Amino acid sequence: MDPTLSILQLRALQLERLKETIARAVAGNPAYRAKFDAAGVSPASISSLEDLAKFPFTSKADLRAAYPFGFLAVPQTDLVRIHASSGTTGKPTVVGYTQGDIDTWADLMARSIHAAGGRRGMKVHIAYGYGLFTGGLGAHYGAERLGCAVIPMSGGQTERQVQLITDFAPEIIMVTPSYMLAILDEFRRQGIDPRSSSLRIGIFGAEPWGEGMRREIEEAFDITAVDIYGLSEVMGPGVAQEYADTKDGPTIWEDHFYPEIVDPETGALLPDGEEGELILTSLTKEAMPVIRYRTRDLTRLLPGQGRAMRRMARIKARSDDMLIIRGVNVFPSQIEEQLLKCTRLSPHYVIDVSRPARTDEVTVLVERRPDAGDADCAADAAALVARVKDIIGISIAVDLKTPGSLDRSQGKAKRVIDRRPKI
Ligand code: DLL
Repeated sequence: MDPTLSILQLRALQLERLKETIARAVAGNPAYRAKFDAAGVSPASISSLEDLAKFPFTSKADLRAAYPFGFLAVPQTDLVRIHASSGTTGKPTVVGYTQGDIDTWADLMARSIHAAGGRRGMKVHIAYGYGLFTGGLGAHYGAERLGCAVIPMSGGQTERQVQLITDFAPEIIMVTPSYMLAILDEFRRQGIDPRSSSLRIGIFGAEPWGEGMRREIEEAFDITAVDIYGLSEVMGPGVAQEYADTKDGPTIWEDHFYPEIVDPETGALLPDGEEGELILTSLTKEAMPVIRYRTRDLTRLLPGQGRAMRRMARIKARSDDMLIIRGVNVFPSQIEEQLLKCTRLSPHYVIDVSRPARTDEVTVLVERRPDAGDADCAADAAALVARVKDIIGISIAVDLKTPGSLDRSQGKAKRVIDRRPKI
């Protein structure tokens, strides 16, 4: 697609593709037909993009209820790939792809890697997990499509990750930001200066990460770190990608996905710029079109930067990650933001929430940096307690841990342990 498409051309393309998508969903899938009948809408209800708001949402629960293949709009014999998202409870959600879907996905991932500064001829080390998770294979096909040489390392075997990065000299790494930190530790453990590695670009996503983490990783490796967003139900990675030259939040590939923001409580549509839940509608998917999919991810839509396609603010959190601590709404990313300002504390942390008596207690377990002294770490811990109280409004305790003592993630990090009894 021509990235210089005007807004008018983009909206016209989206409307045409939206009509096709809704027609395809209705023709091929009884679950959509039933949902739309119940809401009194049909393909004829779409004459403008605004009309999409008349359509009902699709949720993860809808997909689960139709497990495994009830949301396909094509016969199973047309599939060439199946992925599934694990989910912490219940059945996984299953996603099917036609050959056309795999081609579109590879194109969008190639576009994403290019926006990140990747070029034909470069080597790409992929440390996202391969398998049912969409991270590894999504990145793999996109990097090949761009003409890069792929190193399909997958997650885990951290020592080997460092060895292969050192020996094969890739320019690009694609991995979760939390696992990048584990790789960083391993460089240091092996006595190799991470800044001397061949890496120039890191494409990080699959979990929330903020500006503090970006600085940490960029400085440690002397690379450009950019954000990639996506979710399996909608395709996988490559729904949105941050440009390396602006680093101002991921651009949503709006020629393939139509974004809306709604109030997570009421479902009411919110204007661009306001924070709410991201809703995505696929515009070109064949096997499993998603119409008004509730991502649960909280963000804002921002104007395009010299492009018609809009950007999204970095995901602050998922609406289901919000902790309510003694009545105060807290996102783990807010605590992370304050923690990363403490230069003697490491970015390896876990937020432990408990209710020993009747009140909620929060303890941040955080490793000190290997080179930091006791008194300095204690001063930083005290500063963190004060900042969280001032800025977020809750009292926390900080438990300083020795370097390397907390579990490292090999994919998406688990940052919160909530031990409160479920009510
Ligand atoms: O995580 C797809 C992916 C792989 C994206 C590799 C980027 C890189 P799921 O396992 O289905 O798919 O999880 C999707 O992860 O709804 C967000 O809550 C979260 N997420 C994904 N990217 C980001 C990001 C993949 N850049 C869920 N920032 C989404 C924050 C993200 N959260």
